[in-house]
Amino acid sequence: MSSFDELEQIREQALAELADARTTAALESWEDRYLGRKGEITQRARLVGQLPQEDRPAYGQRVNEIKRLLGQAFEARAEEIKRTELATQLSAEAIDVTLPGRPVIPGHLHLTTQALRELYAIFGKMGFEVYEAPDVELEAYNFDLLNIPEYHPARDMWDTFWVKDTGEESGDRRLLRTHTSPGQMRAMRERCPEPIRVILPGKCYRYEQITVRSEHQFYQLEGLAVGKGITMTDLIGTLTQFARLFYGPDKAVRVRSSYFPFTEPSVELDAACIFCHGAGCAVCKYTGWLELAGAGMVHPVVLANGGYDPDVWSGFAFGPGVERPAMLRYSVEDIRLFYGNDLRFLRRF
Ligand code: DAH
Repeated sequence: MSSFDELEQIREQALAELADARTTAALESWEDRYLGRKGEITQRARLVGQLPQEDRPAYGQRVNEIKRLLGQAFEARAEEIKRTELATQLSAEAIDVTLPGRPVIPGHLHLTTQALRELYAIFGKMGFEVYEAPDVELEAYNFDLLNIPEYHPARDMWDTFWVKDTGEESGDRRLLRTHTSPGQMRAMRERCPEPIRVILPGKCYRYEQITVRSEHQFYQLEGLAVGKGITMTDLIGTLTQFARLFYGPDKAVRVRSSYFPFTEPSVELDAACIFCHGAGCAVCKYTGWLELAGAGMVHPVVLANGGYDPDVWSGFAFGPGVERPAMLRYSVEDIRLFYGNDLRFLRRF
């Protein structure tokens, strides 16, 4: 075969292969094979010197023509492949903008927080401000100063989580507060000799068996009023108003005598059972009433520990839970639901 025929054959073969190249990778290897430094055409161009003198110009010219022709064909094919590749990619990644979006469920306040905020508003209307006290308390504040000395049998009412790290300055033991009442002492010692009207919300901790009615952590909302001429009537009026605003104006409440070391006299506030409305059922143990809060007139010893002369000053205190009233209002039968983190429960409120 003459060198010229061979050239033409290479050209045909190259064009045929180019038409078959479907991908950028195939295209690149084609370019290497024909137009690259060691490609067929490049090698043929180097052969010119070995041809008879008279053939050289025509051969050189033809090699150059083919080179240009293949170069152009290559560019055209590359363009085509790029376009089809882009089209395939676009259709593979196509987004249907008409599809409805996935719903984002926004968070919302926990039932306890909702109840707390409502209580702030209710007591705010009655002139109470929020006073914050610490969760980790000194033993003296949680017990002794509230008239509950060590070995007082009433300490058994509050099974305690003790904190290992003992307060070195005072030698006083630390604990997780078992109730919000120690905040009373903090408020009194800070505010004395001013009158006081505060609520003290906070989490309380008890080393207790968890049941449908008791958790080892829960909220309380302590209330404290100290002034001159404050009486039991003020306490009962305040509690009744709280119950009416929280449960509705026709909610029946009653005040029953009780015992707490830090109040004298002490009472408990009950509300008519939401399940049987006073008729008696298993939930209210057939009394028709459910307990809402302990309360009473601040004990003279406690007033004095807070810096107030009990002959001049008097006060009342109360300490409802927060989950329990919410349970009564929304008919939640198991307190463990509050901190169980079951979204089906949390989303109900
Ligand atoms: N601290 C009490 C408890 O945890 C509740 C309580 C009772 C608070 C009487 C008071 C009160 O302020 O006067 O059981």
